Amino acid sequence: MVMSLDNTSRIKVRDKFFRLYLRKEKIDEIVCAIAGRIDVDYAGKTPLFLGILNGAFIFTSDLVRKLQVQCEISFVKYASYHGLESSEKISRLIGLNEKIKGRDIIIAEDIVDTGFTIANLLNDLKQYEPASVSIACFCFKKESFREDFKINYCGLEIPNLFVVGYGLDYDGAGRNFPDIYQLDESDV
Ligand code: IMP
Repeated sequence: MVMSLDNTSRIKVRDKFFRLYLRKEKIDEIVCAIAGRIDVDYAGKTPLFLGILNGAFIFTSDLVRKLQVQCEISFVKYASYHGLESSEKISRLIGLNEKIKGRDIIIAEDIVDTGFTIANLLNDLKQYEPASVSIACFCFKKESFREDFKINYCGLEIPNLFVVGYGLDYDGAGRNFPDIYQLDESDV
């Protein structure tokens, strides 16, 4: 079995234990707050959300359903993370196939770690001449951040923890948990 609860309510995902970090109710409040700010900033506009797959599929779908403003939604997919380590070897798997020129783009990301994934996307977007680009992320690992772009809508700053749930995975598993769990190094 890939995921299971042991008798101390820890989650086991593959070979690692994780413990509760953030409950779904709190996640919901954070996403509502981001949506409220986007509604104010984009009143009268129709932004195009670019969710970064796979991780951001849940955050993006929650966020857009809380918005009052009209929007369009698309996804791009990069591969950058293997197991518990971030990697700077990025390959774009699904390209930008929407009309970007002159559009107000909001990049939606589950978690910003080194920032390398979004830095690549920002670079790729330039050639399509969007009217504006802003970034919404659910979690931000500020201590790991190595880029210099601004995060316009940041849900939550977290320490340099490895987390799963709410779209975030450990080797492909754990994305479907509604709550977020942190790696429990005190396992066995
Ligand atoms: P960055 O390019 O280093 O900012 O990494 C961003 C990507 O790494 C995210 O979209 C996630 O897929 C993945 N990632 C970063 N931190 C974590 C984590 O704690 N758990 C699961 N995935 C993570």
